[in-house]
Amino acid sequence: MIALKNTGIRIVVLLVLQAVWLETSHSQSPGSPAIAAEVSKQEAIYQSQGEKVPVGYVTDRSLLAYASILSSEFDRSLANLGPTDRWLDIGAGEGRAILDYYTPRYDSMHQGGRERRGRKAQAVAMSIEDRRTPHWHKTAASLEANKIRYLSGKRLREYSLEELGQFQLITDVVGGFSYTRDLALFMEKVLAFLDLNGSFYSLLLDVLPENGTNRALYPDTLFLTELANADGADVSVCSWLKGIACAEVTCESRTEAKRPIEIIRVRKICNSVSVPALVSLQYQAGTPPRRRFQLREPSPGQNSTTR
Ligand SMILES: C[S@@+](CC[C@H](N)C(=O)[O-])C[C@H]1O[C@@H](n2cnc3c(N)ncnc32)[C@H](O)[C@@H]1O
Repeated sequence: MIALKNTGIRIVVLLVLQAVWLETSHSQSPGSPAIAAEVSKQEAIYQSQGEKVPVGYVTDRSLLAYASILSSEFDRSLANLGPTDRWLDIGAGEGRAILDYYTPRYDSMHQGGRERRGRKAQAVAMSIEDRRTPHWHKTAASLEANKIRYLSGKRLREYSLEELGQFQLITDVVGGFSYTRDLALFMEKVLAFLDLNGSFYSLLLDVLPENGTNRALYPDTLFLTELANADGADVSVCSWLKGIACAEVTCESRTEAKRPIEIIRVRKICNSVSVPALVSLQYQAGTPPRRRFQLREPSPGQNSTTR
């Protein structure tokens, strides 16, 4: 357990150190040349190959890395999935975490739930660009048809419920949740694709912690994902998530190398989901990008913090 925690800390430190941004952008209004330039820089990151892949763009994290980075509940949630259940990994990169799930080593490390798991859940890897490796193709060919699927060429927001269906478990490790330009639509989609009682596990790097902490406490932090209320005062991502109707949200704030990280779990508890709307104020290409959003309307019960 201690070894796992230490691995987790090392991985989190690695995650933090890998954050890289391209040069600063200036004022951005929707459709402006400035935003178009950032979008095209970001697209170049997605499509980069070989030596052109930026150092911070990690696409091959293992399932052990996922379990170390995400909420401690994730490992159990995955191990408890049965053969008719489904797991979606948004922003899967090479899909290595999914491949690790199908190994005998996974079963030997997860004796609990093994009987129930049987032939294991179906898993879907989603990535904008196709980063499948020979290892992916070999594993897919060795499993029953469609046991693992790799979807590429589109972003999460471009898929319909009819195309994807619903999932009991959705993960996102520095994928769409960290990269999207439309955080509110992203969460609407995640919750639409989640089955009732299903859970979404993710994290955000360099983000204001949930408990109303003043940003002055982080003088060295360049916040990656920022939210403001209608008056321009800071709002934590976690308190915004907690304003989503039909979502039970748990956040765990960690500080690694003096940099704040929020580990997030969202469980869908009813079907009338409603996500508080956000307007995008800034998007700066990077790994992950820097983003600033503003709540369209003041939402009751949201804690704001002073800048
Ligand atoms: C840095 S890689 C992370 C890969 C993997 N999770 C890992 O930890 O190794 C980012 C991934 O997120 C994907 N991505 C970014 N925005 C996305 C979106 N809106 N919808 C789906 N995938 C997205 C990228 O295409 C890429 O596969």
